[in-house]
Amino acid sequence: MKVGVLTGGGDCPGLNAVIRSVVRKGVQEYGIEFVGVRDGWLGALQGRMTPLDISTVRGILPRGGTILGSSRTNPFQHEDGFRRVRDTLAAHRVDALVVIGGEDTLGAARELSRQGIAMVGVPKTIDNDVPGTDYTFGFDTAVGIATEAIDRLHTTAESHMRTLVVEVMGRHSGWIALHAGVAGGANVILIPEQPFDIDQVCGWVRNRFRTQYAPIVVAAEGAVPKDGHLILKDRQLDEYGHVRLSGIGEWLAREIETRTGTEARTTVLGHVQRGGTPSAFDRWLATRFGLHAIDAVRDGHYGTMVALRGTRIVRVPLIGTGPKTKVVDPSLYDEFGVFFG
Ligand code: F6P
Repeated sequence: MKVGVLTGGGDCPGLNAVIRSVVRKGVQEYGIEFVGVRDGWLGALQGRMTPLDISTVRGILPRGGTILGSSRTNPFQHEDGFRRVRDTLAAHRVDALVVIGGEDTLGAARELSRQGIAMVGVPKTIDNDVPGTDYTFGFDTAVGIATEAIDRLHTTAESHMRTLVVEVMGRHSGWIALHAGVAGGANVILIPEQPFDIDQVCGWVRNRFRTQYAPIVVAAEGAVPKDGHLILKDRQLDEYGHVRLSGIGEWLAREIETRTGTEARTTVLGHVQRGGTPSAFDRWLATRFGLHAIDAVRDGHYGTMVALRGTRIVRVPLIGTGPKTKVVDPSLYDEFGVFFG
C-alpha cells in the first residue's frame, strides 16, 4: 500500500511531529510506502511530490513548520481541481491520503473524499477552532508564546504607567486570546465571539490605573466593537474567501488614548505565534494524532478525522456537518469577568 501525506493551510508547530509518527508507524508496523505532497493542495494539483521514508523524518520532531511545505490553495477554485488531484495520486500509485489541516484544508478533503478519494484527516491550527476535537496541536505552543509576551509587557507597562494592548491571532475564535489572557493576568480580553463596548473597555482601563497598576488589554485579531466593524489588513480574499486581519490593536490603543487621556502602546504578535519549536504537549498530541491516523488508514476507515475527546483519540466524520468553526462559549468567557478592570 502507498499513502500520501499533505499539510495545508497556515502552518503550526507540531506538523512535523505528525508526519514523523504517521511514517514511523506506517513503515515499521504496517509495511506501508509513503510519498509527501508538496505545498498542500497546490502540489496535488501540480503533481509535485517528494520522497518520504524513515530517513526523511529523522530529527524533525522538535522542528516547527512543515518539511512538506504548505499553502492556502483550494482545489475547488481551480479548473478541473478534482480530476487533477485524482490524476496526481493515480500517477504516483497513491491509495490513500493523510491530510493534516484546519477547517479549510479539511473541508476540501471532505469534498474530495465524498467524490471518492480515500482520505483520513488530522486537525491542526494554532487557533484551536476545528470542530469535533477538544484541542488541535499548535494551540498550546501559541498560547505559551503569547503568555510569555504578556508577562514581559506587564513590566514595561508598569514602568511607564501606560496601557499595553496585545493583538493575538484568532480570526473567528478567541481561544488564544482567552487562554493567554487568563494565563498572563490581562485586565481586558476581547474575542470575536463577544462584540465589545469601547466605553466599558475604557472604564476597565481607568479602573486599573486607579489601583496603581498598568492595564494589559489582550485582543484577538477578529475582535469587533459593538457598533463598529472588523478591521482588515487589506481587502484581498484568499482561495477560501478569507480576508487578512490585523489593526484592532492599533485602533484600541488610539481609542484608549483619546478617551482616557492616558498613554497606550500596541504589540502585534502575528506569525511569531506560529513559528518555532512545538511545546511538549503539542508534540505529544501531534504524535498521537499521527499514530491514530495511520491506524485509520490501515483499517480503511476513510472520510474520517482523528480527534481528541478528553484524553482519548477517536475517529469522527471529516468536518463539515455542523458549524464550520468551534467558538468560545459565552459562559466560559464569563467565568473570567472578575479579572476585568
Ligand atoms: O492559521 C490560522 C491563522 O493563524 C489565523 O488566526 C490568521 O488570521 C491567519 O492564520 C493568518 O495567516 P497567513 O498570514 O499565513 O495567511
